[in-house]
Amino acid sequence: MSVRIAPSILSADFAHLGRDIAAAEAGGADLIHVDVMDGHFVPNLTIGPPVIRAIKRVATVPLDVHLMVDNPDRYLKDYVAAGASMLSVHVEVLPHLHRTIAAIKDLGAKAGVVLNPATPVAALEEVAADLDFVLVMSVNPGFGGQTFIPRSLDKLRAVRALLTRTGSTAFVEVDGGVDLGNVREVVEAGATVIVAGNAVFGTSDAAAAVRALRATAGEAPR
Ligand code: DX5
Ligand code: ZN
Repeated sequence: MSVRIAPSILSADFAHLGRDIAAAEAGGADLIHVDVMDGHFVPNLTIGPPVIRAIKRVATVPLDVHLMVDNPDRYLKDYVAAGASMLSVHVEVLPHLHRTIAAIKDLGAKAGVVLNPATPVAALEEVAADLDFVLVMSVNPGFGGQTFIPRSLDKLRAVRALLTRTGSTAFVEVDGGVDLGNVREVVEAGATVIVAGNAVFGTSDAAAAVRALRATAGEAPR
């Protein structure tokens, strides 16, 4: 399966989001990753539906919205209406995960489940077959620019193995601390969607950074 690059706008210049998204797209970004944080589930606050609606007007690739909030069920409809094509929710806050996944799909978005670094892969066991994707956090969520947790490579392999064993067609996304030094390894471990914030927008040329990530991941340039 081919690798998709999903630049995270968390590290973009929020005063120039349109410009930064266009630059990432010029470099061949496949998705735009949008981090929603509520200051409760994670110790940081970011953006909500109004900003996502604005991004949707300028982005030419699908929006991959990562909900780091305490009560995602309450907002699913708002985020899909705002323009999310992919919507991911954290297993750690969802006692009725099966219902939440069904609700996301009913709204017409791709449903993803996110695992924090300390969350065991087994949490996916009963829902694997229903998922469109699994997002493996390779840092503790809340901030951009953190260091990749090396154990995440084993986690990616374990998620990939669980999906294969359960007959799930879900793809695997990785998020946190991915850069030119480890992108090849995360792809070899089973990730096909690569989120990168700092490695794209923390550079002086976001387009070149996306191209370099894809090339280093082992993919032909776009
Ligand atoms: C962290 C977010 C990530 C973040 C990744 O909580 O979920 O999407 O933007 O940023 P980098 O690639 O800089 O670690
Ligand atoms: Zn994210």
